[in-house]
Amino acid sequence: MGRQGNNSFIVHIRPRQIKAGTLRFRVTFCLGGFSFLAFIILTITGILLMFYYQPGEKAFASLSEIDSALPYGGFIRSLHFWAGQMMVFSVFLHMVRVVWSRAYRPLRELNWVTGVVLFVLTVVLDYSGYLLRGGQESGAASSVGQTLLKTLPGGHGLATVFFGQSSPLNGSTLNIFVWHVFILAGIAGFLQMFHFWRIRKDGGVRPL
Ligand code: HEM
Repeated sequence: MGRQGNNSFIVHIRPRQIKAGTLRFRVTFCLGGFSFLAFIILTITGILLMFYYQPGEKAFASLSEIDSALPYGGFIRSLHFWAGQMMVFSVFLHMVRVVWSRAYRPLRELNWVTGVVLFVLTVVLDYSGYLLRGGQESGAASSVGQTLLKTLPGGHGLATVFFGQSSPLNGSTLNIFVWHVFILAGIAGFLQMFHFWRIRKDGGVRPL
């Protein structure tokens, strides 16, 4: 391995040159970075919660147990909840910043579209997390979501795919659980990597 071989990984993840001025805080307000930080906290606390959370009929009871009987359980659950709220807020503000600095224009339009999908995913992740509580409010929120979805063309099918067929066995939290922890979170993780790669490809952050 030559000189390049040893360093190529570092060189790959960290470019040696970036445009002067794009590191200044008021260019990005680090809002994309805060969004990603929230996602990392959500992934770690989410994995920890998965060890004890029970999707289905026992969802509500298992969360009460996490809160009261598990060391640091309530803390980890709160961290997951607040990181979720922080992510929705910072992704929204990041989007506003992108509009303000007109970074949606060519050649960054693909990353803008990727961002729009990430925004929708972030909101749906927050919503589906709320449903996973399995309490009465979750039932009400699920009814509102299903009613809204069914107003769309093909919405009845979509509602069945997302919310599942209610059965005495799993209520409907099992379906939402699979969407929340595997499908939606997985796609969001993958798209963020794509988003970061595109920033590099598009020549870095657009200077003001
Ligand atoms: C999971 C959500 C997201 C994460 C983690 C994320 C992360 C980032 C990061 C770290 C940057 C570098 C500059 C900065 O921090 O502002 C960036 C840039 C960018 N993001 Fe996002 N982003 C997300 C969602 C979005 C959304 C919702 C949009 C718009 C709809 C968007 C559009 C863009 C564009 C166009 C750029 C390039 C900005 C420029 O060149 O100035 N992103 N993103």
